Amino acid sequence: MSKFHRSFSFRYRLTLWYIAVFSISLLAYQTFSYFELKANLISQMDAGLLSAMDQTIQNLDVENGNLALQNVEKTPIKPLSETQTALRIRILDADGNVIYSASGFPAIPIHQSALHALGDHSKPIYQTIQLGTEHYRVVTAVLIIAGTQTKNFLQIANSLSNIDKELSSFIVRFLVGLPFILLIAAAGGLFLANTALKPIVEMKNLAEHVREDRLSDRLHYQGPSDEFGSLAATFDSMLDRLEASFAREKRFSADAAHELKTPLTALKGKLEVALSRPRTAKEYEEALTNMKGDVERLISLSADLLLLSRMGNVALSSRAEKIDVGELLDSCVDQIITAFPDKHVTVKRNYEHHVEIEGVRDYLVRLFLNILDNAVKFSNTEVMLSISIKQVQARKAAVIEISDNGHGIPKSEIPFLFQPFYRVESDRSRLHGGAGLGLAIAHEIAEAHGGQIEISSAVGEGTRATVALPLSLKQ
Ligand SMILES: Nc1ncnc2c1ncn2[C@@H]1O[C@H](COP(=O)(O)OP(=O)(O)O)[C@@H](O)[C@H]1O
Ligand SMILES: [Mg+2]
Repeated sequence: MSKFHRSFSFRYRLTLWYIAVFSISLLAYQTFSYFELKANLISQMDAGLLSAMDQTIQNLDVENGNLALQNVEKTPIKPLSETQTALRIRILDADGNVIYSASGFPAIPIHQSALHALGDHSKPIYQTIQLGTEHYRVVTAVLIIAGTQTKNFLQIANSLSNIDKELSSFIVRFLVGLPFILLIAAAGGLFLANTALKPIVEMKNLAEHVREDRLSDRLHYQGPSDEFGSLAATFDSMLDRLEASFAREKRFSADAAHELKTPLTALKGKLEVALSRPRTAKEYEEALTNMKGDVERLISLSADLLLLSRMGNVALSSRAEKIDVGELLDSCVDQIITAFPDKHVTVKRNYEHHVEIEGVRDYLVRLFLNILDNAVKFSNTEVMLSISIKQVQARKAAVIEISDNGHGIPKSEIPFLFQPFYRVESDRSRLHGGAGLGLAIAHEIAEAHGGQIEISSAVGEGTRATVALPLSLKQ
């Protein structure tokens, strides 16, 4: 399919459908009008025939017990209306033999059985009869004149040629007008299709131009909030999300590069100093030990980055196991106490018995270590930790709260804590803090388990991290 065909075929299909529906309606209406007109003309004709019949009967005299046929000629046989031609009269005897026929009465065949079926008092019957190319309307009535013994039949006929002409001119008028009507319908249909599809074309053009450096373009659709309006709004909000996610990715890469550069520069500096002149074996050993710290920091940073970038699409279920939350937290607390030998940590535990959740042990250890690490790191030497574990049946979740009596976090900073590389802007953070990935990783791990994490804090009083984890992983 050509590009042109692909991008424009829908509007032509729409136009064709419009024309098709329009033509069918028009045809149905014209057909109805045709039969309506025909029925009207015929009933006018029938009324004329009937009144002619009444007059003929009045003019008929009886002489010596027989019909005085010569008086029939007195009946006006002028056309009664434009659509009628001159009337013809014929009288038949009881056996169907023609006993009177005004000149020019068409040779309409006489069906005896039909005549006999006409009872003495039955209503006149109307028939349309074709003779050659011409149509006739014929009314037949039983003629019983007082004073005569015999039963006769009176027939009055009129040619339908004028009516036929009128009807065929109706069809001709329709057929001549049809191409123009269809042309107007096609133009109208195309206009409607174009108008209706305009927002789609705009969306298509915009979508074609969306590139990484033009993500700020929007449709800003001004039309009514109909289906197109909501499609355009959805499209714009999709671009909002895309733009935000691109910006996040960009910031993340820049921050990551910056964080990696710092220890690398330090390492390079130390290497250059060590190599600046010949040194003793002991000096080399000291320099290398010193550099090992930088290398370890680099390894842990890249491991964090790797974990964070993978967390979004890991499938946990295959590695998930039943975990006793109390035991898990106890082992994390032990690790943290060992990691901070110069701090004095007191732990107040308030555990419900054997709260079990389903999850990946390594990740959950990581989550709680990150929180506990912050709690101890951002506190003075005397650390007071308070840890509670509750099973909340209504939420089918385990809720773990970890509070410290540390420095606290200003309220305005709390919404940003879970962003990668975010550190609270204070000397303390810069002095103690890591790369600012700890809470971002904790947040990703909680989300991957279908859980949530929240931080509340008061400066100078302490911080509380609340983690809610579902008791079982849903697929
Ligand atoms: N318990 C806490 N007490 C005080 N400040 C905290 C606490 N937890 C987190 N923060 C602040 O939030 C920032 C982000 O934490 P985190 O993501 O773990 O980064 P990092 O520990 O690498 O600095 C920290 O730098 C710190 O300023
Ligand atoms: Mg941290």
